Amino acid sequence: MSTDTSAKRFTRTLVTSALPYANGYIHLGHIAGAYLPADIYVRFKRMRGERVLYVGGSDEFGVAITITALKENIPPQAVIDRYHTANADAFARLGISYDIYGRTSWPLHADTTQAFFRKLHAAGAIPAQEMELWYSPQLDKFLPDRYVKGTCPKCGYADANGDECEACGAQYSARDLVSPRSNIPGDASSPELRASRHWFLDLPQFAEKLAAWLETHPEWRANVRGIAGGWVGDLRPRCITRDLDWGVPIPLDDPDAAGKRIYVWFDAPIGYVTNTRQWGLDRHGDPDAWVPWWKDAETRLIHFIGKDNVPFHAVIFPSMLMGQGDYILPDQVVANEYLNVFNRRTGQSEKGSKSKGNMISVDWALGHFSADSLRYYLCAVAPESKDADFDWDDFMNRYNGELCDVVGNFVHRSLTMTVKNFDEKVPEAGEFEADDVAMLDAIGEHAEGVAESLENFRFRQGIERVVDLGRKANVYFDARQPWVTRKTDLPRTGTTLHVCCQVVKALCGLMAPFLPDGAKTLAGTLGVPLPGGGPDGGPDAWAEIITRLPAGHPLAPPQVLFPKLDKDRIAELAELHEKGLAK
Ligand code: MF3
Ligand code: ZN
Repeated sequence: MSTDTSAKRFTRTLVTSALPYANGYIHLGHIAGAYLPADIYVRFKRMRGERVLYVGGSDEFGVAITITALKENIPPQAVIDRYHTANADAFARLGISYDIYGRTSWPLHADTTQAFFRKLHAAGAIPAQEMELWYSPQLDKFLPDRYVKGTCPKCGYADANGDECEACGAQYSARDLVSPRSNIPGDASSPELRASRHWFLDLPQFAEKLAAWLETHPEWRANVRGIAGGWVGDLRPRCITRDLDWGVPIPLDDPDAAGKRIYVWFDAPIGYVTNTRQWGLDRHGDPDAWVPWWKDAETRLIHFIGKDNVPFHAVIFPSMLMGQGDYILPDQVVANEYLNVFNRRTGQSEKGSKSKGNMISVDWALGHFSADSLRYYLCAVAPESKDADFDWDDFMNRYNGELCDVVGNFVHRSLTMTVKNFDEKVPEAGEFEADDVAMLDAIGEHAEGVAESLENFRFRQGIERVVDLGRKANVYFDARQPWVTRKTDLPRTGTTLHVCCQVVKALCGLMAPFLPDGAKTLAGTLGVPLPGGGPDGGPDAWAEIITRLPAGHPLAPPQVLFPKLDKDRIAELAELHEKGLAK
């Protein structure tokens, strides 16, 4: 087994998950991409006693949000308040354990963003340039980004965005858009090209440094290396300002800066820094508590994102960090592919899309399913190396067949039999035989195996290894037949159940990063502490997975950890989903 031991070189781990736009409800595709893997990783690191900080938040600027505001005829602030609150709540209910869930609309964020901008500008990395942009004569306004639509110059798709086509993936300069039209409700005028002065992040300046840095990360997933490598081979200056009034003001004393704002993709990743600053203020009352998390070479920075965010996290934001001079760079960028949706009617897998209405919101899903059941399935099918499907039958079969029937069942029958026959205590063990020893040894092997998977960001493999321990334990239980020996050989039964109790305790620790609710319930039954940890670090609770409960340790009667999903109910909900009602 090759273990990524690089984590050991670091004294601190800063984990970020992409900041979702506060322009829609978070859905299961998001979760499988950038949130659940990060949360599992963070919970694991906390258990290990490492110092880990997990930062997230809402991305609240950009044209997508102002378009929603225009369409609903409400201020942008009302849009972001609605979705920020709902998404923060959905994450919390799903057990995504952020240390802080911040907002890019915070005044503190304008301060951080402007400091980044100023530093780059002073270093000559943000030159200004005139460009031609679409302009609405009727509204007397420029039409940045999605305010203008038209026909794709490459493939002819009629509903292409101002500078990129969703149909063929082409990126082009807005002026090449064919038959442009305004995307602002009520604007019937024909857009015309006008000159406007803007600021550009001079990415080519960073080309050499970026290439050298990427070379130091052969361990990154192929998807990230591929996309980042492609970008670095073809860097161009990128416009980082917009003719808008919704965004961070440009911190320059320049008449052309007045009516413009910083582009959302410049400020958004800086949100990670802002939110770390706010965390330091909230937690320590210390305006400088964030500094070591971003500037000390002993900190390991890890970004969890969806694939579409790779260029920003592996190329553009690193350039911005390089330009600051004293910031660390990400040591890992973990990007998942997409979670598609399996359509039962057509038998086809389809992309999740707003217009199709086939996405399942976290809020809706949590109204019908436990957090653990969703976490289990989304981890088991996580699109780590290729796209995966959310498939209702698969969801039910895997959760029922693996988590309930294998892990839950083993825990339940072991504890029920122990509690009944041994006075609610861990029984005395007699002499261990070969299969008892093998079972006990498997605990350590699996604890190591799961740790290895998680250190290497292989979350699917990690949860498989947890279930696999349950599988071995059921084989052991069936072979030992404690329900038979109970009548003939009580000491032997005691030994068997003593061993089973150790496996149950180990499963409790092993499941904790993946299935926090089940682990918590089980820890209560076993009367063992559930390990915490956090930014300050603590004792290594992962190492404690192999320590044994002593004979005589009191147990509570077990509760059902993972209630089964009902087939008819699943069919009903799948139908609602097909009707586009799982929003
Ligand atoms: N809001 C972006 C998206 O959903 C992600 C922003 S990640 C950040 O695609 F780092 F830039 F904040
Ligand atoms: Zn196209």
